[in-house]
Amino acid sequence: MTSPGPVAETAAIRLQLRTWPEVEAYLDRCRGVIVPLGSTEQHGPTGAIGTDALTAEAVALEVGRRTGVLVTPAQSFGMAEHHLGFPGTVSLQPSTLLAVLHDVVLSLARHGFERIFVINGHGGNIATTRAAFAEAYATAASRGLPVAGRLRCRLANWFTAGPVMREARELYGEKEGHHATPSEIALTLHLEPSLQAHQRPLPEPAPAGPIHGPDDFRRRHPDGRMGSDPYLARPDHGARFLDVAAAALAAELEAFLAED
Ligand code: NI
Repeated sequence: MTSPGPVAETAAIRLQLRTWPEVEAYLDRCRGVIVPLGSTEQHGPTGAIGTDALTAEAVALEVGRRTGVLVTPAQSFGMAEHHLGFPGTVSLQPSTLLAVLHDVVLSLARHGFERIFVINGHGGNIATTRAAFAEAYATAASRGLPVAGRLRCRLANWFTAGPVMREARELYGEKEGHHATPSEIALTLHLEPSLQAHQRPLPEPAPAGPIHGPDDFRRRHPDGRMGSDPYLARPDHGARFLDVAAAALAAELEAFLAED
């Protein structure tokens, strides 16, 4: 399977801006597609509700720009049940998200896409996404889709890519924390400068711990953060995170496309 090669413009790789004959022609030269997956949930008292969706989409578009692989619209609602104690959070139950991702994969597979590369911005989506892949493989086979034997789905979490985690550790050490992390907030500051106005020093956060549901989460983490200091985030850090995340994931995608 060959990659279509680098393209200059982000518009060229956005599925939303292409026509169906263009997609049909694309499938003659590449069977890969990127699906950005986010979440719409509280990110502490100063972080944007859309952090996980904004970051996943930005990384996905940059990976698409570097590789020439098409990027679908972002799935901006994820599994955020444990964040529902905070206003503005919009969550899909795991079974709902599983059904959504299953149907996205099956739609793409029906038209001949064989490599589905999900770029994810939210840890709470991981288990459900893996389950959705398993169910999609089974359905593709039971429906007798021509691509069933060649269909591969890959989950790529931008925030756990090796170079991203190394960069975050160097910049923030322990203050990276586990939710509303300075690394993800930095990327949103780079993408949307108006968010800088929310930045202010915050008291010591509650440490990370077990989560048993939305009310328990809010009791243990009253301001929504888990062990993080998002005040350390800076827009120039965000530009750096975008670059290292896109480099790591573009390499992973190229290998994925070349896999047997
Ligand atoms: Ni997040």
